[in-house]
This record gives sequence, structure tokens and C-alpha cells, in this order.
Amino acid sequence: MTTLGIIGGGQLAQMCALAAVPLGVRIKILERATEFPARHLASAVLHGDWDEGAQVWALAQQCDFVTLENEFVDAAALRYAEERGAIVRPGSATMATVQDKYLQKTAFAQAGLPVPAFAAVASPAEVVAFANQHGWPVVLKKRRNGYDGKGNATVRSSSELDAAWAKLGASGLYVEAFCPFERELAIVAVRGADGARVAYPLVETINADHICRTVIAPARTSPDIAQRATQMALTAIDSVGGVGAFGMELFLKADGSVLINEIAPRVHNTGHYTIEGCECSQFENHVRAVLGLPLGSTALRAPHAVMVNLLGAGSGSGAPQGLTQALQERGVGLHLYGKTSVSKGRKMGHVTAVGDDLKEVLARAERAAAAIQFGTT
Ligand SMILES: Nc1ncnc2c1ncn2[C@@H]1O[C@H](COP(=O)(O)OP(=O)(O)OP(=O)(O)O)[C@@H](O)[C@H]1O
Ligand SMILES: [Mg+2]
Repeated sequence: MTTLGIIGGGQLAQMCALAAVPLGVRIKILERATEFPARHLASAVLHGDWDEGAQVWALAQQCDFVTLENEFVDAAALRYAEERGAIVRPGSATMATVQDKYLQKTAFAQAGLPVPAFAAVASPAEVVAFANQHGWPVVLKKRRNGYDGKGNATVRSSSELDAAWAKLGASGLYVEAFCPFERELAIVAVRGADGARVAYPLVETINADHICRTVIAPARTSPDIAQRATQMALTAIDSVGGVGAFGMELFLKADGSVLINEIAPRVHNTGHYTIEGCECSQFENHVRAVLGLPLGSTALRAPHAVMVNLLGAGSGSGAPQGLTQALQERGVGLHLYGKTSVSKGRKMGHVTAVGDDLKEVLARAERAAAAIQFGTT
């Protein structure tokens, strides 16, 4: 039996494990927490720090392949295990590029892909020089470890700069031109160990407070935009030598141009709809890629799919309210992540609906999502 080690045990590991088991795969997980979503799906859990090479190697020694569910795992720790013979996918070289957003953007720019203007900055004066060239506002970002917008600050003028500089920690920053987007789009692409590539449909993401709320598949755009975005995703994954599923976030501008915001070297929230929506989900295709198996079809099973995230409303235990009502909604896929505590905005689960009529599919998914609450009591 093939054993797959996953670094990190959150909901992405949970859904990878659920896709891996029917392929005859056993799962082992390296996690620092003692309670986590994928815990009960793993045949073994190693408690340890994924930034320590020795811990990653300890996992790898019990597994045929190792993958990861977050982009924060230190590339040097992965390299430590690779040097001792571990097969890690995506590998340390890819992770070193992708987990530093400045290096990531540099790789894309070198591959000829459209990205907002950007520059590494070591002082506020360099941000002002950048803004003088590209205009205000600018977006100041941490090169590493940002998520849910927490490592970013939009700076509208030089008077806002000092506060933003202080907030982000004043080191390891880069700056980007502000992109006046009309909509945010996303696409998941998967590259096999043999270099074969597939891409899922282009989707629309509706975010609030920097957190993804709703995903509409396929995106309501022209075929030309979808085709361009697909090509961009495939080129981007090649440019970083990625193996596995990669989620790419894009900006669509009013003139129809599409720019890359960022790529995540893992299965992505904007691809959760593929479980019910596509012939082979992003999770199954990720597992197939990591194991060196042929990739599956990314075709939609129905004309439309909508995913709505279930986010925490406040803090408390992770128990859901309103489950009975939500389950009465016909044809809705419910995915709870089993987290034992909730906080405001925390991703606790998601629902997906598919069907022929987008308005009806959207309404059905939203009704089911609205029925379930976390952190309200
Ligand atoms: N250059 C930009 N111009 C305009 N808006 C931007 C720019 N960069 C980021 N944003 C906005 O901020 C959001 C979060 O930015 P980004 O994706 O870089 O951060 P993150 O913390 O890595 O994201 P997440 O974890 O939410 O994917 C984007 O989805 C977009 O709405
Ligand atoms: Mg993002």
C-alpha cells in the first residue's frame, strides 16, 4: 500500500486524505497541534514542528511520498529531507521560490507573465520612489507568511507610509502597484511528476475582509479571458517547476486584461467546488500528481457550481448550529472541517451546489450556508 505523508493537518489535508483513501493510499500527518481536521483520517500522526528538517525527514521515512497543505513550511526543512532521499512534491526548490512572494513575482515576470509592477524595498524612501514612478496607492506586502490579507497594507499617500511600514514589521517587504480590478478570478492548475498539466475552469471569487466567501464556477467572462487565464496558470506552474495542484489568484481589469496576484503551491479554497463540480477533484488530482499517477479530467459535471465558505461569526466551540435545516437543502454538498474551536472569520466548512441555472444554484448554496452558524452562542 502506498503511504502519503502530509505536512499539516488542516481542512486541505482532510480533503486530500478523503480523496487519497479510495486510490488505495494510506495517510500519515506531521502536525504541531494535537487536535486538527485531518487527525482521524490518518493512520499515524507525528507531533512535531514542520520547520525542522529532522521532523520532515522522520515523516518521510515512514512514507513513499510527502506533500504539504500550506506554503509556510520552510523550504530548508524540505531540502533536508530531500537530501536524505525523501520524495517531496512540490519540492524544496519550488517552495523556496513560491513562499517568497517577491521571488514568486520575479519568476513570473521572467516567464513573461503579466503581474502588477513590483519591487523589493528596504526603506520607506524606496516605497516613495516606487510610487513616484508608478503612482499611489501602492500595496506594501510581506514577502513571506502573509495570509488572509494580514501581511498587506494599501498605502494611499506618503503620509500613510510610516504606519504601514511599522505594522508590517519593517523587514522582508516588497511593494506592488495597486491594481484597480473589476473582479477577482482564480484557477487551479495541476502538474504531474512527468510534466503533464491540466487546468480547471476559471472561477470568480467574491472576497470580503480579504477572506474568500463565494466561488462561482465557471467565471462569467468571455472564452478569450478564460483561455488566457488558463495559459497563464499553466505557464506559471511550469515557471516554478511545480508538481501537484497550484491555486492562482488573478485580477480582471475593466479593459479585459488579466494580471496574476499570487499563486499558492497547494490545493486552494477556490477549487473546493471541484469535489462535486468536476469529474476529478483538485484533491484527487493533487494526490495523483504527487504519486506519479496519470491526471484526471477537470471537466465540469454540470454547467454551474457554487461554493460558499462557512466562516466563524464569533468565538466559541466549533460545534455548528442549524445543521438539521441545512441538510434539508437538496443537492448541496456539506463539508465540515471538525475544528474544535471557532473565531471570527475562521474557515469552519463549506457548501457546494451544482446545477443548470446559476441563479438557482447560487440561491441554493447560499440558503444552505446561511442555515449553518458557528460561534453565535
Ligand atoms: N496589487 C494589488 N492591487 C489591488 N488589490 C490588491 C493587490 N494585492 C492584493 N490586493 C487585495 O488584497 C487581497 C489579499 O492579497 P494577497 O492575495 O496578496 O494576500 P494574502 O494574505 O496572501 O491572501 P490570501 O491568504 O487571502 O489569499 C487580494 O485578494 C486583493 O483583494
Ligand atoms: Mg491571496
